[in-house]
Amino acid sequence: MAKVKTSFFCQNCGSQFSKWQGQCTTCKEWNTIVEEVIQTPEKSDWKAPNSNVKRVSKPLRIDEIDVGEEIRLNTRDEEFNRVLGGGLVPGSLTLLGGEPGIGKSTLLLQITLKLPYKSLYVSGEESQKQIKMRAERINPSNTNCYILTETKTQNIFKQIEALEPDIVVIDSIQTLHSDYVESASGSISQIKECTTELIKFAKETATPVILIGHITKDGAIAGPKILEHMVDTVLQFEGDRNHVFRILRANKNRFGSTNELGIYEMQGSGLREVSNPSEILISQKDEELSGHAIAATLEGMRPLMIEVQALVSTAVYGTPQRSATGFNAKRLNMLLAVLEKRAGFRLGAKDVFLNITGGITVDDPAIDLAVVAAILSSNEDEAVSKEFCFAAEVGLSGEIRPVQRVEQRILEAEKLGFSTIFVSKYNKIALKNTVIKIQLVSKIEDLIAFIV
Ligand code: TYD
Ligand code: MG
Repeated sequence: MAKVKTSFFCQNCGSQFSKWQGQCTTCKEWNTIVEEVIQTPEKSDWKAPNSNVKRVSKPLRIDEIDVGEEIRLNTRDEEFNRVLGGGLVPGSLTLLGGEPGIGKSTLLLQITLKLPYKSLYVSGEESQKQIKMRAERINPSNTNCYILTETKTQNIFKQIEALEPDIVVIDSIQTLHSDYVESASGSISQIKECTTELIKFAKETATPVILIGHITKDGAIAGPKILEHMVDTVLQFEGDRNHVFRILRANKNRFGSTNELGIYEMQGSGLREVSNPSEILISQKDEELSGHAIAATLEGMRPLMIEVQALVSTAVYGTPQRSATGFNAKRLNMLLAVLEKRAGFRLGAKDVFLNITGGITVDDPAIDLAVVAAILSSNEDEAVSKEFCFAAEVGLSGEIRPVQRVEQRILEAEKLGFSTIFVSKYNKIALKNTVIKIQLVSKIEDLIAFIV
């Protein structure tokens, strides 16, 4: 009997070693190296039905290559199309990552149900009945959607050959296993092998394949980093599970930009596309309350008006509390220090709480000015006019710094009916004939005069 060949793999970064060691020399993690069987006899994974037609690829001069018309499969989901850069590219492999329970299965099932093509949804996690129950909640319309519960790639390919679907969804890559590798499902070598087989299938038949991938504690897609290199597109589905908004973004996209963003709302009947997010993220209220300010931020390429809420109160205990939801706590401390030093506010003995509404996390520096305005407003108990919005970064010396794409932010604010937008004096603005008033400010002191 042939000797079983094994090798050692780091479960964190996917590096391969010939012997066991305590620390991975590539990613420096401890205790991540595990022995896996890599014995691979002669391979006969995916075979095109008429595999006697051998394709040999020849080098072509770049101007000889005919791209033809760019074909993309319209997924009938505006947000998904936008993030992909216009639709699914035939033969592409897309990986969708996200935390458990965020709605990955729901999103892809919903998309396959909406598709006008023959689609195959392969699940290694749920039974056909469970999926049917979920589909009933979503309200199906595509009767050409097939559900398969299978985890062995060889069996999946057999079914694909018989069915010839136009699109294949795999839920999830971590549950698949191939006969050619002996280690358990979800191990590095299994994930690599199954992905390689799927890539081969996708490229040879020009069928787009979407994989669902689990995410580890620290937010990386479980499995080797190589997985992300192998696929064409990596999408990330994120959001706070306790809130209804979900954000879909592309971390890597071979066929489009990574700046686009899709927004969904989780409802009782699946995910709803949110085409005008700003209107929902700003809470509707009649009276003006202190501690609220609206920031004109950009998520990727999309302008998003976001409400910042601050509460400043006298500290009951010796050490004042600072807490931020949806905003970097270190940055909050920095802005408080700037206010203390540059604007003479005695915030040192106060508790400060900051919240970004809608359960989203913002890292656009343009939100700084709205944060400062909300804190000042709560501290003075004076409401900021709800007609105002803000878009600027605040520097350490209290200077108000310019932000990128300010014109896009101004236009969005104007569209939503704000009367005034506060931006940095140093922003170059070429807009003419705007209805909205563009208030230029250069220091925190300038802002104070307007809002409190
Ligand atoms: P799911 O797609 O199973 O998450 P994942 O595949 O990312 O692990 O989604 C799970 C959550 O979505 C679940 O907690 C219930 C919720 N949900 C709704 O709120 N409405 C719906 O119509 C569906 C199908 C799910
Ligand atoms: Mg799932």
